[in-house]
Amino acid sequence: MAHTTEKIRRRYDRIAPLFSKMDRMVSDKYRAELIRHAHGEVLEVGVGTGANLKFYPADVKVTAIDFSPRMLSYAQARVNKSPANIRLLQMDVQHLQFDDNSFDTVVSTCVFCSVPDPITGLREIHRVLKPSGHLLMIEHMLSDHLPIALVLHLLNPFTVRLTGANVNRRTMDNLRIAGFAIQEMRYIALSDVFRLIVATPNK
Ligand SMILES: C[S@@+](CC[C@H](N)C(=O)[O-])C[C@H]1O[C@@H](n2cnc3c(N)ncnc32)[C@H](O)[C@@H]1O
Repeated sequence: MAHTTEKIRRRYDRIAPLFSKMDRMVSDKYRAELIRHAHGEVLEVGVGTGANLKFYPADVKVTAIDFSPRMLSYAQARVNKSPANIRLLQMDVQHLQFDDNSFDTVVSTCVFCSVPDPITGLREIHRVLKPSGHLLMIEHMLSDHLPIALVLHLLNPFTVRLTGANVNRRTMDNLRIAGFAIQEMRYIALSDVFRLIVATPNK
């Protein structure tokens, strides 16, 4: 797993300059809507080039992590444009270096397509979220519609090779396996592929 993680990390380092120009794969409308629910101590995982940072309000304290130093260097340029207090750290979501029950909110947008072991990553988020905390996500995943699912399965080897991202992850199942209850789930783009999710930890 360490080898796979390192391979994917290097892939994101490589595509960071390109990604910084196309991180609009999720519209600002949905990013703003998601981040509006963030409060208190916030952890953003897989912050990438920092597309969500400008939406955090001034009264939250944000710790934003990513395992790609190059992605973080692009995010650094956006830190000062946010009203919130933000610190960036290089870290793997599969091995979070935070105490149990540390955060009120965890944010993840388009990250769990590429985390090598998504259930381990989600269990780590579950561990560091307070029992009263919320996980706010926008993720793309395998469609429940057979024709779309077949296309995504066929595309998956190519997307993994090119970008490190899987397009056929069963993220709703993974959330439940990791101990989350789904409070809200909305389809926001490409039929049911892109979803906005609010989940709470069963603790
Ligand atoms: C598709 S980008 C999305 C970036 C950003 N969240 C956004 O919405 O624009 C996925 C990001 O997740 C990061 N990532 C993937 N696996 C990770 C892991 N195991 N730990 C930390 N970051 C990870 C990648 O480096 C990349 O920056």
